[in-house]
Formats: sequence, structure tokens, C-alpha cells
Amino acid sequence: MGFARAFTILYVHLPQLQLLLLLLPFSINDMHVKAQLSPSFYETSCPTVATVVEGVVRQAIEAEARMAASLLRLHFHDCFVHGCDGSVLLDDTATVIGEKAAPPNNNSIRGFEVVDEIKSAVEAVCNATVSCADILALAANASVTLVGGPSWTVLLGRRDATSPATITQVTAALPNPNSDMPTIIGRFAAVGLDVEDTVALSGGHTIGLSRCVSFSTRLYNFSGTGAPDPTIDPNFLASLQATCPQGGDANALRPLDATTTDTFDVGYYSNLKINRGLLLSDQELTSDGNTAPLAAAYASSQSTFFTAFAQSMVNMGNISPLTGSQGEIRLNCHVVNSA
Ligand code: HEM
Ligand SMILES: *[C@@H]1O[C@H](CO)[C@@H](O)[C@H](O)[C@H]1NC(C)=O
Ligand SMILES: *[C@@H]1O[C@H](CO)[C@@H](O)[C@H](O)[C@H]1NC(C)=O
Ligand SMILES: *[C@@H]1O[C@H](CO)[C@@H](O)[C@H](O)[C@H]1NC(C)=O
Ligand SMILES: *[C@@H]1O[C@H](CO)[C@@H](O)[C@H](O)[C@H]1NC(C)=O
Repeated sequence: MGFARAFTILYVHLPQLQLLLLLLPFSINDMHVKAQLSPSFYETSCPTVATVVEGVVRQAIEAEARMAASLLRLHFHDCFVHGCDGSVLLDDTATVIGEKAAPPNNNSIRGFEVVDEIKSAVEAVCNATVSCADILALAANASVTLVGGPSWTVLLGRRDATSPATITQVTAALPNPNSDMPTIIGRFAAVGLDVEDTVALSGGHTIGLSRCVSFSTRLYNFSGTGAPDPTIDPNFLASLQATCPQGGDANALRPLDATTTDTFDVGYYSNLKINRGLLLSDQELTSDGNTAPLAAAYASSQSTFFTAFAQSMVNMGNISPLTGSQGEIRLNCHVVNSA
């Protein structure tokens, strides 16, 4: 694999041949790991792809601010499950059950119509060239920047999976909002992300909404105590209980960042400081010794948070991509090409 990739790179960059040949014996391992994705992957095959993606995302966010959050989350749920390979977008078929029905996704992940609009717009300018996995990566960058967050160098060249992961695999890979922090850190570690990535990427919750079902045990029966989580700010608890009464609509929605819901900023971390984190997995960032110092640092410095978030998005985007001749460039993000 490493040698095949290296050969491709030599072949397409003839002017750099001499230099690369000199470096090759020393950097072959680096190349195997790092030369997989590239910011210039579509430079000749689809030079306008980033602009096209951003145009559709901009319109979608103008129509509904929440869409920025929903698109960011799709990239996360794609990458954590068998790598960033567009598998989250596959529909159920007669023979295969997709990832969309898995508990963390079912009735929760959204934005598929916007991904379809992006895909159509991209196909119109460069047919059968840009993967659905790369569209999710580009849409995440566009979404975050358009609502006030940082941009990052989006590495490209991912190819699309030809089959989804199983429901069991999805549930095993994605973090659960009611897990303790060591368990959540473990889910990140399983895909090669560290504690800093865990804390910075949790800041994705500075935008978007959650259903009551994702946090209601904190409101009424925390850890089987029959009482609310005692750490929740009392006024915030009362407000959450009003939105999510026992036996009420489990799909009622609350903002993950109650103060600046549609803006990518440090509001999420500021809320944690005053015990107004929505999910248990959010609030635990300030009580776990490994994460608390980072959560405090991000609360007090937007530039520290933005720099860390941008780097961690690149790290997340690098999770086990399919490259080269692996997978395919799906023509319709909902189904594999052979369907
Ligand atoms: C730390 C582990 C994480 C846990 C336990 C977690 C859990 C959740 C849950 C339970 C929801 C609400 C889902 C619902 O009720 O329908 C949610 C929403 C969301 N998550 Fe996470 N998440 C985590 C990490 C991330 C990461 C790494 C990102 C992206 C960088 C992210 C971005 C989002 C966004 C933007 C939303 C709102 C989506 C929308 O409004 O459509 N989350 N998350
Ligand atoms: C990321 O977003 C920024 C700001 O919208 C944009 O200038 C940049 O082109 C985007 N990068 C990619 C690769 O899409
Ligand atoms: C997904 O949600 C629907 C509608 O609430 C439900 O009928 C279905 O059983 C759920 N699927 C799984 C696999 O849990
Ligand atoms: C795009 O390419 C695919 C595969 O090569 C082909 O089946 C399809 O007709 C093309 N679509 C357009 C609009 O050119
Ligand atoms: C709280 O949860 C525990 C453990 O899950 C359960 O045994 C208990 O019945 C619940 N209490 C109430 C009041 O729902």
C-alpha cells in the first residue's frame, strides 16, 4: 500500500521526482500515513468544489440556522464509524440495513436533503468525481465558518464505502451522552483521537439541538437515584423539566448551547462553568480531572478553542479513509453504485 501510493505520487509530480527520490528511503512511513489525503486532491479534477459546496450550505443555513449543526454532526457520525467513508448516508435496502436506524442516529441525524442538493450541484460541475465522504468534510468546514467558527485545511481524496457498518458497530463506536468521561475518552481513543480532541470536538455542541430523550435521565432519575443530577444549576433544571416533563414528548428539543445556539463560539464552555451543560457528557468535561483544565482554557479563550477545534477536525477527518482504488465515488449518496 505504502509503495503503491508513493509510486502514484512520484508519477504525478515528475518535477519533484529527484527530491522525492532523495527523501523516499527516510519518509516512506510518513508518506504511508500522511500522504493519503491532500488539500489539493480536486485541484485539476474539480477546482470549484469547495465554492459549490459552500454555496449550497450557505442557502441551507439561511433557510434554517440549525442545518450548520446537523451537517457538522453528519461528518462526525460518518468518521467515527468505520472511518470517513460516507457510510452514514446509505439507506436501508432489501438486503442491507444501513446505519441510519442505529440508536444514536435514528430520529436524530438529519440534513440528508441538503447533502443531496450539494451532491447534485457538485455532479453538475464535475460528474462522478467527488465522493460523498469528501462532501461531508467540506460541508462541515463551510457550516462551522458560516456560523462564526474557525475554518481549517480540509484534506480531501476520501472514497465512499460500498457497504454500511452494522447497527451494533455504530452503537459501539459512537459516544453515548450518558457514559462517564473515561468511557467517552475511550471511544475517541479507539479512533486515534486524544483527550484534547475529545474536549475540543465536544465544542461542536456550541451549535444545534438535542432531544429530551438524550438527557432526561439527568432530570428525574440520575444514576438510578430517583432524583435529578444534583450538579445541574437549579434554574436551568427547572427550565429543562418544563421542556421535558416525565412522560412527555421525548423528541422535544433544547439547544445544546442555550445562550448562543446558532453561533459557533465559546458559549458552550461558558455554560459548563455555570453548570448549564445539557448532556451529561457535556457537563462531565468540567468534573473529570483529565478534561477540566482544557474545558476551562477554551471557556476563557476563543482563539485557543478555535485553534484546537480546527486541528481536531483535521484529525477526525483523517480517521481511516478509503483512498486510491478502495471503495468508489458514489453517484447517489444514498446507495452504492452497484445497487
Ligand atoms: C463527546 C461525545 C459526544 C456525545 C456523547 C454526543 C452526543 C450528542 C447527542 C446525544 C446529541 C443530541 C442528539 C439528539 O437528541 O437527537 C448531539 C447533537 C449534536 N452533536 Fe454531538 N456528541 C458528541 C460529540 C460530538 C462531536 C465530536 C461533534 C462534532 C464535532 C458533535 C456535534 C453535534 C452537533 C452539531 C449536534 C446538534 C445536531 C443538530 O442540531 O442537528 N457532537 N450530540
Ligand atoms: C473552509 O471554509 C472557509 C471559510 O468559509 C473557506 O474560505 C475555505 O475555502 C474552506 N475550505 C475548504 C477546503 O472548503
Ligand atoms: C427507529 O425509529 C422508528 C420511529 O420511531 C422506530 O419505529 C424504529 O423501530 C426505530 N428503529 C430501530 C432500529 O430502533
Ligand atoms: C455521470 O457519470 C455517470 C458514471 O460515469 C453516468 O452514469 C451519468 O450518466 C453521468 N451523469 C451526467 C449528468 O453526466
Ligand atoms: C430509577 O432508575 C433505577 C435504575 O435504572 C430504577 O430501578 C428505578 O425504578 C428508577 N426510579 C424511578 C423513580 O423511576
